[in-house]
Amino acid sequence: MSLIDKINLEKCPQHIAIIMDGNGRWAKQQGEVRLFGHSSGVEAVRDVLKACVDLGVKHLTLYAFSTENWNRPKEEVDGLMNLMVETIANEVSELNENDVRLRSIGDESKLPDACKNELHRAQVATSENKSIDLILALNYSARWEIINAVRNIAKRVEEGDIVANEVNESKFEQELAMPEIPDPELLIRTSGEYRLSNFLLWQIAYAELYFTEKLWPDFTREDLFRAVLDYQNRERRFGKVSEQLTE
Ligand code: FPP
Repeated sequence: MSLIDKINLEKCPQHIAIIMDGNGRWAKQQGEVRLFGHSSGVEAVRDVLKACVDLGVKHLTLYAFSTENWNRPKEEVDGLMNLMVETIANEVSELNENDVRLRSIGDESKLPDACKNELHRAQVATSENKSIDLILALNYSARWEIINAVRNIAKRVEEGDIVANEVNESKFEQELAMPEIPDPELLIRTSGEYRLSNFLLWQIAYAELYFTEKLWPDFTREDLFRAVLDYQNRERRFGKVSEQLTE
């Protein structure tokens, strides 16, 4: 029996964000190099994406490469970039078969050309798909995104488009990377680390956080269902008290 049978499909999160952590440790456990962990992590991405399609989740955001990841050994960074290029190129037809639209957030300007080009090609090829958005966070950090938004707002004030007093949450959100996408209701981090690592800090203000000891390459569709079940058993109060929620 699959845990999906226990899930209330009417009450699934619309947006799930995942910090895919533990590839390096997983590889070490297998006596392999770190890159083997990353390429095995792609299998888990495939499984989890399909599971999200089955649940009717509309947006899945994956932390694939942070602005801090450039500090890793060159061999690992190059290997990760090649893996992105290869994976994106190989998966386009499968994305289309599953009606998945590929998108990305992050500072693209520093990505290698091959990665930028493949990403653009795949985005165009999948742009009409409607079931789910797969959003890859690439050279992303929340502080980068927030500073960018602040700069844009400051520019609008300078140009007289708005006055400082009019800046509010909704105007600010318009300047973030994915203004049209609802905030994630569920954030998952694998590998037993209890950190947010500069991921979607604005958008996860009210997200439920789910941490698991599983290393990312071992994370399966059943693990995703477990996380969603856990989410469904929580009470999301948004600052209210329990009694107000049924009103
Ligand atoms: C963190 O594990 C993982 C990453 C920095 C990379 C994740 C990327 C993938 C799974 C490839 C996905 C590709 C596509 C196109 C979706 P870690 O290396 O920090 O593990 P450790 O903490 O055990 O060292």
